[in-house]
Amino acid sequence: MSNPEIESVLTEQRTFAPSSEFSAAARIGSMDDYRALYRRSVEEPDAFWAEMAEQLHWFKKWDRVLDWEPPFARWFSGGEINISTNCIDRHLDSWRKNKAAIIWEGEPGEERVIRYQDLHREVCKFANVLKGLGVEKGDRVALYMPMIPELPIAMLACARIGAIHSVVFGGFSAEALKDRINDAQARLVVTADGGYRRGNIVPLKDNVDAAVEGTPTVKNVVVYKRTAHDIKMKEGRDHWWHDLIEGASAECEAARLDPEHPLFILYTSGTTGKPKGVVHSTGGYLLGVHLTSQWVFDLKEDDTYWCTADIGWVTGHSYILYGILSNGATTLMYEGAPNHPQPDRFWEIIEKYRVTIFYTAPTAIRAFIKWGDQWPKGRDLSSLRLIGTVGEPINPEVWVWYSRTIGKDRCPIVDTWWQTETGAILISPLPGATPTKPGSCTLPLPGIVPDVVDKNGESVDDNQGGFLVIRRPWPSMLRTVYGDPERYKQQYWSQVPGVYFAGDGARRDSDGYFWVMGRVDDVINVAGHRLGTMEVESALVSHPYVAEAAVVGKPDDLKGQAIYAFVSLESSHEPSDALMDELKAHVVKEIGAIARPDFIRFTQELPKTRSGKIMRRLLRDIAAGSHTVGDTTTLENFAVLTQLMEEEE
Ligand code: PRX
Repeated sequence: MSNPEIESVLTEQRTFAPSSEFSAAARIGSMDDYRALYRRSVEEPDAFWAEMAEQLHWFKKWDRVLDWEPPFARWFSGGEINISTNCIDRHLDSWRKNKAAIIWEGEPGEERVIRYQDLHREVCKFANVLKGLGVEKGDRVALYMPMIPELPIAMLACARIGAIHSVVFGGFSAEALKDRINDAQARLVVTADGGYRRGNIVPLKDNVDAAVEGTPTVKNVVVYKRTAHDIKMKEGRDHWWHDLIEGASAECEAARLDPEHPLFILYTSGTTGKPKGVVHSTGGYLLGVHLTSQWVFDLKEDDTYWCTADIGWVTGHSYILYGILSNGATTLMYEGAPNHPQPDRFWEIIEKYRVTIFYTAPTAIRAFIKWGDQWPKGRDLSSLRLIGTVGEPINPEVWVWYSRTIGKDRCPIVDTWWQTETGAILISPLPGATPTKPGSCTLPLPGIVPDVVDKNGESVDDNQGGFLVIRRPWPSMLRTVYGDPERYKQQYWSQVPGVYFAGDGARRDSDGYFWVMGRVDDVINVAGHRLGTMEVESALVSHPYVAEAAVVGKPDDLKGQAIYAFVSLESSHEPSDALMDELKAHVVKEIGAIARPDFIRFTQELPKTRSGKIMRRLLRDIAAGSHTVGDTTTLENFAVLTQLMEEEE
């Protein structure tokens, strides 16, 4: 049975098998090996996960693998574990103690190499600083930082003492930061004076100053000096990182934590106005990111691995930091923009550090294509052996360009499907085993049981569109929405009863390959980042001139989707270009530059059904250009269109 709302139109036929050379050296080198592992993982899940969990360091082994009281899971009950021990301490009694854990490059060009021993020292010191400021196990700490090594150091320091970190992406505004601090009731904020982006300074501390005006729980702010420009320091509340760290002990015993102890909260957009605080655990999350780093990235001891995400998103948490360091690998971190000072900055970095594994987003690849082949062609990319993507469906033509121009038809591509909520990659090729098809994230990883279903939860036939769901719990799944277990139940486990509802439309082809088509809810995907249309609407409506707003995604060659806002004004106000600019700036202030509407269209009223629901399908069509009427500032009356649509239905 098909789902009439989700129609699949893509009919990509090409397949690309991994080279025999790659397969021969890979951790999982054939489809037979993959199938055997997968079969075991679903036939004997407890035994499988238990065996896998032996790879981690446990202070105390678990009694039970899984307690599942749907939709609440407890993994590895009775065990005791710490993520910072797994990511650092266990590498110190081998030669890895002097191996580079983090290689960092600042946007202005500085380099730092932090070996595992250095990381241990810095993390212990900062953990002691946190303790000195009164941070205790279970307390929330907000991190609003540039992409500098002190961000992972602060995260690992929180993990070491059992504090729960909530990283807020540095591109979010003061207002968005305030909301997230308040929702998490954080008691401390760690920030920097600023960070570098495209040659400019991002004024992080100024934003923190504005945010903490409205956050009663925050008692202290720690400030790392990165840009050394002038900022205000408030006596008694603000402390310089370097002052606190001086004299802090370099020894700090790691807390023995219940595997279910929350490691972090990360806010992500949903269909209602308020972002959701996705809560991840310690033990299950670590197991998920540890294993998938091996399976998907085929991590080896001598790899130099680079994920270009910002740590403010889940990709950075899982695959710049935790999954990579728990495997004792070398992770590269770059602070700034891909086109600063020139559009070949990424390729220059690959050439300079001999990067072997490169993980980025389709939106970035589309920008590379636009900037021109001369930039990657002008650099030596021969060190690369594996390349990957995440964040949105990749168009087959973009995939082919990536394979040819960056991967030189030699590197397998891993198109990895996952979400903030899933913690780790769930559907992806195994680079040494899986033949790939451009545009498909291919097959589920071991232990993961996805399906494509209709509204009643019935599996749909091959090649029919439907909802992507996951039928069984997995270790790195989110545990709840912070402070709102009802929302967790409602959002993820009630839409289709008994299974995890991902919010994506998908189809499965006759080889069992998954093709993800995009969101089925009111979430848009702008440059690989999720934005709830409600969030942008709420921001617009908070402007005093705006009566009502409806936001939809408009297909965009570069960003995947652009933000298209329909706005009706209070009757005393007239549309104008100046007001349009003002409204865009208002959204930037409320949420951040990523949410800036690309288009604003003024309208007398929004088209609604008789029951009062905004007709988003109509608005999406109009935004996409199928019913264009006048330029953007023209006031439009949708009454006629609405009537036509209703007659059609
Ligand atoms: O729609 C899917 C898309 O990104 C969403 C998750 O967004 P977020 O939680 O911000 O996490 C992004 C990084 C993990 C999904 O619901 N998405 C992610 N990866 C893919 C994808 N769509 C298609 N193919 C992918 N590989």
